[in-house]
Amino acid sequence: MSLRLHSHATASGKVILVGEHAVVYGQPALAAGLPDGLHLDAAPLPDPAAPSRLTIADWDIDLVLTPESEHPVARATLEVLGFCDGPLTGWTITGRSRLPCRAGCGSSAALSVALARLALGDQAETNETVAAALAGERVFHGNPSGIDNLVATTGGVVRFTKGHPARNIALKAPIPLLVIPTGIPRSTAAQVAKVRARLETMPSVIRPVLSAIGHAADAAIESIESCNFKQLGEIFTVTHELLSSLDVSCAALDALHAEVLAAGALGAKLTGAGGGGCLIAIPPASPAPVVEAVRARGIEPLFVEVR
Ligand code: MEV
Repeated sequence: MSLRLHSHATASGKVILVGEHAVVYGQPALAAGLPDGLHLDAAPLPDPAAPSRLTIADWDIDLVLTPESEHPVARATLEVLGFCDGPLTGWTITGRSRLPCRAGCGSSAALSVALARLALGDQAETNETVAAALAGERVFHGNPSGIDNLVATTGGVVRFTKGHPARNIALKAPIPLLVIPTGIPRSTAAQVAKVRARLETMPSVIRPVLSAIGHAADAAIESIESCNFKQLGEIFTVTHELLSSLDVSCAALDALHAEVLAAGALGAKLTGAGGGGCLIAIPPASPAPVVEAVRARGIEPLFVEVR
């Protein structure tokens, strides 16, 4: 067991561009890292046997890490540190983030990856970090596909298929995105369970929807490689509708979706598990009307350039 943590670690947040939910069933998905997702600092406590503490004020997290704690963040933290043979007591870990948490922006994956890096160092092999972070993601999400912890580790744009090597997608130009939080938290595990229920009830109907989402992910790669953001926007909009048919959208997401399209967005979709969380939209050349429409609902969108 290593008795020390590194003093600082970072991890990317993520947005799933196209392919969420279908990726759980072996379809390809396309995800992008959001730089500066989470920064963690670690410092030793005077007593190495004292319970460690994790504080991330931006996410309202302030936890004493004991084996008895049932809080998923505490359990996931100890799980990742234990997986890495890191110290389970005697440290204070402090984080900061500009991303919303539990909103489909990869906060749990960013936390799992940054913790793995505190224990393993940021020079560790990607596979080692990804595997350690998956131990945390399992606490949060049950049986995740692995896309979130992969892209939180690598950043960039990644084509991921469960059980196959991932492929980095080289970008000729940054992809402009508006990330629009609904402010509604949701559980990824519950959303994944809804899709499973629908698949079990109507396999012959739902399987083609999942495979259409997989095709949309590959079509999105073509659009990105040819810098055709109008077409990427259309793919977003169609994928939102496919995801709605899986029962993972919600009234707030659908209302925002209609609003940003009416204001001129080139396309929009829910991202991640859905049921709340965030919408992502491709802004038009003059994004002000879209931004104003979102602000009129009391929501501050986050503008990101995926690179
Ligand atoms: C969550 O960010 C993405 C889902 O596809 C679940 C997963 O891939 O594990 C909904």
